[in-house]
Amino acid sequence: MHNVVISGTGLYTPADSISNEELVESFNAYVHQFNSDNAAAIERGEVAALGESSAPFIEKASGIKSRFVMDKAGILDPQRMKPRLRERSNDEPSILCEMATAAAEQALQRAGKTAADIDAVIVACSNLQRPYPAVAIEVQQALGIQGFGFDMNVACSSATFGIQTAANSVQLGQARAVLVVDPEICTGHLNFRDRDSHFIFGDAATAVVVERADLATSAYQFDIVSTKLLTQFSNNIRNNFGFLNRTAEESADAIDKLFVQEGRKVFREVCPMVAELIAQHLAENDIEVSAVRRFWLHQANLSMNHLIVKKLLGRDATLDEAPVILDTYANTSSAGSVIALHTYQDDLQPGALGVLSSFGAGYSIGSVILRKR
Ligand SMILES: CC(C)(COP(=O)(O)OP(=O)(O)OC[C@H]1O[C@@H](n2cnc3c(N)ncnc32)[C@H](O)[C@@H]1OP(=O)(O)O)[C@@H](O)C(=O)NCCC(=O)NCCS
Repeated sequence: MHNVVISGTGLYTPADSISNEELVESFNAYVHQFNSDNAAAIERGEVAALGESSAPFIEKASGIKSRFVMDKAGILDPQRMKPRLRERSNDEPSILCEMATAAAEQALQRAGKTAADIDAVIVACSNLQRPYPAVAIEVQQALGIQGFGFDMNVACSSATFGIQTAANSVQLGQARAVLVVDPEICTGHLNFRDRDSHFIFGDAATAVVVERADLATSAYQFDIVSTKLLTQFSNNIRNNFGFLNRTAEESADAIDKLFVQEGRKVFREVCPMVAELIAQHLAENDIEVSAVRRFWLHQANLSMNHLIVKKLLGRDATLDEAPVILDTYANTSSAGSVIALHTYQDDLQPGALGVLSSFGAGYSIGSVILRKR
């Protein structure tokens, strides 16, 4: 069995960003139009009037101030309220492949590796743009990587599940190094007409090189000390989009074919599960919670993260201990915790311990204990 490290991370951030104020202005324009178009039916009590959204509510409830997106104009157009991403021909790189490749190139560069050093690619994300061929195989070709590639989806936990899968391959000698890439266009599945959730998501892609420790040469290495995963079925975060939608035409475009959640229930149920899993994982590795220098948590909701770390530490965490990126990125699904890792790692001293943790639909929870080399 080989020891395994993360030897490089990468991040692709879209050029456009939408502030809460811009998003709310577009949403409220839609609300006014809807209420005016349906004034008579609302008056008769047949249709419920829509309520306005509010930027202060969004920041208070979630901690989100803005989000990066692949297409700002399409999302903010009150007549459209979804990104406009043109259909590409089969001879062009897909948009997920393009984002993934950009993040992967940075991860490879930080790892000091080229395509020739990588034996496999895993694309791990919440929303794959097609069933096949796997986006991972397209990324493999775009980067000139030999070996094999496959896609996997464990919603917001895709990255940590991908890292465990990659680490297993490297440990067993099936690959010298595996590239795990998480391209997320969450705005593609977000219902921008839903007041409860229109502010939640943003777009980004991350990449991680998982490599055999004895081959790693970079200055950015973390030992993968241990990984631990947990899933428990729940309908509280759900998206019913799929290939069978066309077989039930009457509901093919219903709103459950987009992201739907019971936010309050998710908050209540997931926080204790995450804190318990991380505590258990650390205990199994004889690590005191107080010895953990940094928690790179999934970035969905600031209060959730505060609560989770407070349950673990018995006190509030500092920003240095549990860094926040959701204020400018919003929830980027599986990319979120890796963005935090990528952005907040270079100050750590050799030997420093950290926990990368994701949580989301499934429910699915992942914990990866890392030690700076
Ligand atoms: C989504 C979330 C931010 C909502 O925050 P919340 O505090 O639970 O808010 P609620 O939905 O209970 O709504 C509270 C009030 O604000 C109102 N409200 C909801 N959306 C609003 C908006 N955009 N603007 C203004 N008010 C709004 C509600 O109508 C409700 O009003 P009421 O008290 O008069 O009924 C929060 O539940 C959350 O982040 N949960 C975890 C989600 C998560 O991690 N999901 C993982 C996804 S991968």
